[in-house]
Amino acid sequence: MRNVTKTFGTGDARTQALKGVNFDTRLGELLLIVGPSGCGKTTLLSIIAGTMQFDSGEIDVFENRLHTMDKPAITDFRRRDIGFIFQQFNLIPTLSCLENISVPLLLNGVSRRDAEARAREAMKLVGLETKTREHPTNLSGGQQQRVAIARALVHEPRLIICDEPTSALDKDTGAKIMELLHDVAKAPNRSVIVVTHDTRIFRYADRMTEMEDGRVQRVHESYTDYTNEQET
Ligand SMILES: Nc1ncnc2c1ncn2[C@@H]1O[C@H](COP(=O)(O)OP(=O)(O)OP(=O)(O)O)[C@@H](O)[C@H]1O
Ligand SMILES: [Mg+2]
Repeated sequence: MRNVTKTFGTGDARTQALKGVNFDTRLGELLLIVGPSGCGKTTLLSIIAGTMQFDSGEIDVFENRLHTMDKPAITDFRRRDIGFIFQQFNLIPTLSCLENISVPLLLNGVSRRDAEARAREAMKLVGLETKTREHPTNLSGGQQQRVAIARALVHEPRLIICDEPTSALDKDTGAKIMELLHDVAKAPNRSVIVVTHDTRIFRYADRMTEMEDGRVQRVHESYTDYTNEQET
């Protein structure tokens, strides 16, 4: 990402959410992004995922040059290459958990039967195999979050983007999910980007990026680099 800017609103209501963001993600890594509320983290993730337009700058995700692509091309890219775990989960209340998780596969042309079989496997991975027929509204916050995680992983996207993936999870479940995401990042040609305030999961980071006021201020080559700096 090079010099990416994004402004919301006009006149008095104008907010410059991103003021020229530069950073890279490496293949095979779990990159953690930290920073205060309102510094632009969700905006940044939405732009990388192709769900939000940006004003200027350049973004390359694998061989995709987002700044040169039209809407249909970006939609294809998003369906194929991106798994997104939203801060607010964004599950579809009228569908069962299994159907929610099948959606990314159906959008990619997988048959319903195969989609449901793979969705069932994904539900096992996040420990929810008994909830396939349940609707998301009947689940706890942490269970809904795990459905959202299964949905983001089920089509084996190359880039997985997670906005506070452990916010609704207890310590043990959060650790399990981070281990899962860390394993996913190590599969060939994958990367995982995680935004978090949860200090309990910092230790899963391969690198840490600090955002502040619409900019990436610093990149730490490891979690220990980051904690050493916090202490000094
Ligand atoms: N749709 C929108 N319309 C107007 N302003 C917005 C919109 N989305 C975000 N903003 C503003 O852009 C800035 C960055 O918001 P963003 O949601 O990216 O922050 P964040 O770092 O994810 O915060 P948090 O940690 O609270 O989730 C904030 O000042 C926010 O008010
Ligand atoms: Mg946010």
